[in-house]
Amino acid sequence: MSLNGKVAIVTGSGAGLGLAYAQELARQGASVVVNDVNEDVTNRAVQSITDEGGKAFGVTAAVGSTETAEKLVNAAVEEFGQLDILVNNAGILRDRSLLKMSDDDFDAVINVHLRGTFTCVRAAYDYFKNNEVKGRIVTIGSPTGQRGNFGQTNYAAAKAGIVGMVRTWALEMKRAGVTVNAIIPVAATAMTETVPFFSAAIEADKAGEAMPDFFRKDLGFGPVADVAGLVAFLASDEAQNISGQAIGVGGDRLQVWSHPEPVATEFNDGGWTYDALQSKGRTVIENNLQEVGEKMPELPAELQPKA
Ligand SMILES: NC(=O)c1ccc[n+]([C@@H]2O[C@H](COP(=O)([O-])OP(=O)(O)OC[C@H]3O[C@@H](n4cnc5c(N)ncnc54)[C@H](O)[C@@H]3O)[C@@H](O)[C@H]2O)c1
Repeated sequence: MSLNGKVAIVTGSGAGLGLAYAQELARQGASVVVNDVNEDVTNRAVQSITDEGGKAFGVTAAVGSTETAEKLVNAAVEEFGQLDILVNNAGILRDRSLLKMSDDDFDAVINVHLRGTFTCVRAAYDYFKNNEVKGRIVTIGSPTGQRGNFGQTNYAAAKAGIVGMVRTWALEMKRAGVTVNAIIPVAATAMTETVPFFSAAIEADKAGEAMPDFFRKDLGFGPVADVAGLVAFLASDEAQNISGQAIGVGGDRLQVWSHPEPVATEFNDGGWTYDALQSKGRTVIENNLQEVGEKMPELPAELQPKA
């Protein structure tokens, strides 16, 4: 089965992962509305798709507002006659530890990722419902949203929020036959290029060599093309039974993430007063403390960043 005849929007698809998603969707037969904030970047992405024989149309606009969301849906309908697939990928980083993070740092990240996902999904779902389209929505989470990460208060809030919205939307969209999932990607892009931990992998990739197995398998880290297949699959008719999931992919690795579940349940007649918590509740909590932060395997000596 292919995506022939389908129409997709991919936000932030001028570069990085978004570009790989747009190219893969086009390769599988979909017509793609490409979007980015910079006109040249948008046009180059459109060109890269049409050069390969695919169909693409560019919309230069900043994702976040309702106006942009509606512009994107309208572009799909006006240029290609319909909408079937929305991939909400646009994103930025403004990393700082909590005390250094400004209101602007917080708002900018929340606006693109969290608000942008909300406004675009609302506009696409409105179209799907009114036109009885069993649409496909793919949103983008992050290991940081799942586990937390030092210096990423704003990004952790946005990415955890996206997965929270996906769980809610899967319930709301079920009757309409629309699926919505979050993917949790890890890949070599401008966003990860400067992380010293990945430098041996980035160097190999830039030299046109395969990344070492440690990165591809233990870390689930590879080039952007490794993530694009999952987006195309979730956008296909075959993925009709998959909704409300958070699915990790990168390098050779595919992971299905759990949603939060209680790990311990205890009862106290009359409720959990301060006294009851001191005597009995404390042990229940302390015996079940959960770890935070991403679990990173140790980097082998030969793959350490060069000083
Ligand atoms: N690279 C990774 O390992 C990784 C891991 C987890 C999540 N992600 C997520 O994947 C997505 C893509 O990341 P990437 O690594 O390709 O980043 P990137 O910086 O390489 O690309 C992001 C693209 O989005 C565009 N963009 C930024 N703000 C925009 C806006 N308001 N409207 C439209 N376009 C906008 C940028 O111009 C850029 O072209 C992001 O949501 C990111 O948080 C990436």
